[in-house]
Parts: sequence; C-alpha cells; structure tokens
Amino acid sequence: MATSNTLFAFIILILTTIVFVHADTNATITATLSSNTVFCTFLPPTPGEYIADSELTGIAFCTASTPGVVNVIPDGFVISANFAGDPSTYVQITGKMNPDAYQLHHDDEGGQYDSNGSPPDASCSGYEYFVNLVEPNDGNYCIRCCHNKKDCPTNESTEGCETVIPGIY
Ligand SMILES: *[C@@H]1O[C@H](CO)[C@@H](O)[C@H](O)[C@H]1NC(C)=O
Ligand SMILES: *[C@@H]1O[C@H](CO)[C@@H](O)[C@H](O)[C@H]1NC(C)=O
Repeated sequence: MATSNTLFAFIILILTTIVFVHADTNATITATLSSNTVFCTFLPPTPGEYIADSELTGIAFCTASTPGVVNVIPDGFVISANFAGDPSTYVQITGKMNPDAYQLHHDDEGGQYDSNGSPPDASCSGYEYFVNLVEPNDGNYCIRCCHNKKDCPTNESTEGCETVIPGIY
C-alpha cells in the first residue's frame, strides 16, 4: 500500500512537471534575443492598439530569422536595432521604430511589457527576467533580458527607454 501511494505521488509529480514545463514555453509570449538580427519585441495583438492597453495581452513579434518565430515583426517597423550586452549577464536591443508600420498612434506615450506578468507568463528564452518598452510618440523601442532582477528594472516604466535601457537610439 505504501509503495503504491508513493508510486501514485511520483506519477502526479511527473504529470505536474510536464504541465508546468509546457506552460513555460508558449512561443507566442516568449521573446528571443541573441543578436541584432535575431530578436523579438512585444506588441499589441492587433494593429493600432495603444501599447499600455495591451500590457496584459501583448504577444511577441520576432524577426523572420528568429528560430521558432510565430509572429514576424511587421514590415518596416524596425528602423534600427542595436544589440549590446553579454549572455552571461544581460543582452539588449535598443533602437528606432516606425509606428505607422503597425498603425500605432503618434500620441501614444507607450507602455511596458515585463516578466512581472505583463502579459502573464511572458518570458525571454534563456533568461529569468525581461523588460520591454515601446514608445510610439518618440519612435523608441527597447528590450533587455537578464539573469539578475536588478539589471531589468521594471519600476521605472514612465522614465522611458533611454533611462530604463541605456543604449543607442
Ligand atoms: C499562448 O499565449 C497566447 C497569447 O497569450 C494564448 O492565446 C494561447 O492560448 C497560449 N497557448 C497556450 C498553450 O497556453
Ligand atoms: C527602481 O528600483 C531601483 C532598484 O531598487 C532603484 O535604484 C531606482 O531608483 C528605482 N527607480 C524609481 C524611479 O523608483
């Protein structure tokens, strides 16, 4: 009896693990960031939405050369993409984008996606934390993926890309 209970508990543990691992790898809400040609940024699921309104519903859009890409970044959206960092600490892409390529509003002051549940279960592949801002009004976008929470500050979204993720814009 003890043995079959133990076996039962073990099977439940395995099944739970499978469910969790599966939930962790939803490609639609997983960013990849490894170079200035292989990267993703979150955006609203439909064109023309305000960024802040999509913080719980955003999905990852990636360059066409990103392995396993589900949604390709809209044509003409990326004006520049500057890769920096080191995979042992954090990596980032900073740059300019064209809001018109996804019908974003020129008066949209932007918003932030991050690994604190914006959107729920969103992640950056290979890193525990990420922070991602998109600012149509000044044409900046930025994403950083980090092993340490302190490198991916999520408490200063209103400061904008240039403060949260210093880099080339
Ligand atoms: C993956 O995320 C998308 C976007 O949030 C969602 O629509 C879809 O149901 C999710 N898939 C799974 C298997 O959880
Ligand atoms: C955000 O948190 C970091 C680390 O705790 C801190 O250094 C920084 O001043 C905070 N920023 C704001 C705008 O509160």
